[in-house]
Amino acid sequence: MLKGHLTFPGDKSISHRSLMFAALTDGESRISNLSSGADVQSTRKCLEACGIEIWDDKDDVIVKGGKFSDPTQPLNCGNSGTTTRLLLGLLAGQGINATFNGDDSLTSRPMNRILDPLSQMGLKSESNDGRLPITIHKSKLTEIQYESPVASAQVKSAVLLGGLGANGETTITEPTLSRDHTEKMLSGLGAEISIDGLTTTISKSTSPLLSFNLSVPGDPSTAAFFAAASALVPNSEIVMNRVLANPTRTGFFTALEKMGAGMEWFRQWEEAGELMGDLKIFHQPLQSININENDVPGLIDELPIISILATQAIGKTEVRGAEELRVKECDRIHAVCKNLKNMGADLEELDDGFIIKGPTPLKGAEIETFHDHRIAMAFSIAGLIAEGETILDYPECASISYPEFYDVLGSLK
Ligand code: S3P
Repeated sequence: MLKGHLTFPGDKSISHRSLMFAALTDGESRISNLSSGADVQSTRKCLEACGIEIWDDKDDVIVKGGKFSDPTQPLNCGNSGTTTRLLLGLLAGQGINATFNGDDSLTSRPMNRILDPLSQMGLKSESNDGRLPITIHKSKLTEIQYESPVASAQVKSAVLLGGLGANGETTITEPTLSRDHTEKMLSGLGAEISIDGLTTTISKSTSPLLSFNLSVPGDPSTAAFFAAASALVPNSEIVMNRVLANPTRTGFFTALEKMGAGMEWFRQWEEAGELMGDLKIFHQPLQSININENDVPGLIDELPIISILATQAIGKTEVRGAEELRVKECDRIHAVCKNLKNMGADLEELDDGFIIKGPTPLKGAEIETFHDHRIAMAFSIAGLIAEGETILDYPECASISYPEFYDVLGSLK
């Protein structure tokens, strides 16, 4: 039985963007409830290396926007795809010379999805065959009309941030709507940006963005692990306050409700252009669910924890159209299937997802995290319902997004 009231550090996506967009203003911005994860620290350090002043004021972070300068050392993006991809677009738009690097996971991830549109805009760059390290050279950017082959907020954001510094009107169209924080925030901060369905258009900025004060809403991707725990463990009930409820991010909660978990959003409100809410999740028997390519962008980061829920749901859960999972912090389809098989789950691995038949009792196992925070957290939740001991090879990697994960989980028991 798990019981508790939780609030979470700020959403990781909005935290990255808050730091970056505050750097594009000509004033001081105050950010509260910034994500405590290592990824957001990577963004902070990269911005500082580009001459942006950032300091702590008690629990808040203050960013003084201003002119970017060329970093004297390669930018270390750590494990963070968002840091790399958004800063590639942003720094290209600001006419900066920089080299980007990162850890073993990040250097194996595809970056041509960003370099292709930016080079069409005129960016000169070198890469290691489409991967890090990447060097960008100060280039004159011009508008493009880009049809993105993937529904990726990172691609969309990089093109829009490049577009801020490109002559003319830059347009990006994506196949399915991905998280829309970049366009929402840029619009609120005075950028000339318009949204028409799946197409977003931005004009070259003629003045800095407006400085702001923001309290970042709680991270729904972090909340998802605790919501799943509450749904899985009999007699549990967890209340979560101030969770980001932007519809491009709540796919997991919609899926969890469809699976039959007890869920009640008992208050929702808007703050700084984002919907957020208080909700309660409680244990109830779960049913299987089908997830297809249209659903995937709204719950892309939550598919590992959905796989754990699926093992306890009655029926066959099918996840398809999720090939993007293979190029996340690790190959998450392989990581999920390998570890769940070791725990005794009944499943089939697909190129673009998996099929899981449930309910199956899980047994404790040695879990290979592949140094991926979401695999570590998902299998820690699996460990709660497994018979016997579950041992993770590198639990510390949870600190990429949520350093407090194990303490908070422990406090609920
Ligand atoms: C993110 C977008 C998603 C997500 C990642 C964060 C963002 O990646 O998986 O964790 O903040 O823009 P893609 O846009 O590449 O799908």
